[in-house]
Amino acid sequence: MNLDELAEKAEAEGWRIQPPTLAQTPILAPTGETVGFFCLHAAGRGRWRVGPIYVSPEHRGQRLAEQAYARLTVPLVAYVHESNVASRRLHERCGFTFWYRTRGGEYWKRG
Ligand SMILES: CC(C)(COP(=O)(O)OP(=O)(O)OC[C@H]1O[C@@H](n2cnc3c(N)ncnc32)[C@H](O)[C@@H]1OP(=O)(O)O)[C@@H](O)C(=O)NCCC(=O)NCCS
Repeated sequence: MNLDELAEKAEAEGWRIQPPTLAQTPILAPTGETVGFFCLHAAGRGRWRVGPIYVSPEHRGQRLAEQAYARLTVPLVAYVHESNVASRRLHERCGFTFWYRTRGGEYWKRG
């Protein structure tokens, strides 16, 4: 699947890709297939906001998003909705820490 098709799949699940974005970067399966992506938005003071990070449903639970985060070295912030257990687990494991609470969820940061 290419990035445009994955973006359509993500949007069908309710994940909107908001411009302007630095990049829509592929997340690859071990086979080299593109199975997800993440977008980074400038958040000020050298920090980048991740949104969304998306892995196609049939490829979830294989630590592929974690591998994508391992390659990112810039300071990051991510919004974690209070009902999104997978996202919370991912961000906890990838070294993010709670930053502040907001309506419906929390901001977590790393770096
Ligand atoms: C959040 C998301 C990017 C995680 O990607 P991933 O590559 O599956 O991440 P991981 O393999 O590290 O798994 C993270 C958590 O997902 C959950 N999970 C595991 N297998 C899963 C599956 N088959 N389906 C759904 N969630 C699963 C688990 O809670 C897991 O944490 P744990 O193993 O510590 O219990 C992915 O679930 C996704 O694309 N969700 C929809 C978009 C989204 O919510 N993005 C985050 C907010 S922008």
